[in-house]
Amino acid sequence: MSEDALAAAALRLGAIDAAVILGSGLGAVVARARVREKVPIDDIAGMPRPRVAGHPGFVALGEWSGKRVAIFMGRVHAYEDYTQREVAYPVRVAAAAGARTLVVTNAAGGLNETFSPGELMLIADHLNFTNSSPLLGAPAPNETRFPDLTEAYASRLRAAARAEAQRRGITLREGIYCGVLGPAYETPAEVRFYRSAGGDAVGMSTVPEVIQARALGLEVAGISVITNVWHAGASTTHEEVLARVAGAVEPLSYLVEAILTAAD
Ligand code: HPA
Repeated sequence: MSEDALAAAALRLGAIDAAVILGSGLGAVVARARVREKVPIDDIAGMPRPRVAGHPGFVALGEWSGKRVAIFMGRVHAYEDYTQREVAYPVRVAAAAGARTLVVTNAAGGLNETFSPGELMLIADHLNFTNSSPLLGAPAPNETRFPDLTEAYASRLRAAARAEAQRRGITLREGIYCGVLGPAYETPAEVRFYRSAGGDAVGMSTVPEVIQARALGLEVAGISVITNVWHAGASTTHEEVLARVAGAVEPLSYLVEAILTAAD
């Protein structure tokens, strides 16, 4: 995507402090923000269009927790036949519009057998099992060629989410997110493998956006809604995933709000 498109897209968002990406079925999280405008993604130059159910394709602009925010209601995935650079384009637009913080949310399968469907997991770190990166090719302006990922998910923002969860009595797990390509769900052998690698949850998003954000110097926080747990004999469907995320909208909104309050 050309730098002209990126500049035009950033201009359309206006100056922002933070970007929030809402995953599958999580659009209702936007209700706690003060939304001034909902921009169809077709009005934002260069934005890839979602091709999967549960992702409307709007960017809500407004204020939340005293921050100027762009809330991406829906995202695209590499399994929709987009490159990870395309998947991460909203993060580049947000950075160009001035965002210093990225909050990512997603639906994920539980690998950790102590998790229960409907619980939230604060992402402590990730494993990139996609075999790709949004940083392939020439670095974009302002992009670090070899970004440091030792604290990809800011401990400061994680602490804010933890404190809010405790204050409100929200069960908040914390663990490692395994990013995979999908779109097929995992085989039992893959579940055992990802678990043995240290994964607590598995999903088909987030990793490209987080790598891109770190390469552009944004602080990141990530929260997964655990929609299903991979016990022996378990299986899942996209419908089950969407049904489960609905119940997590309210607690998730509180945690996003606390993260934005703590953000720069
Ligand atoms: N695997 C991968 N992605 C997912 C899952 C899962 O079990 N649940 C929700 N998104």
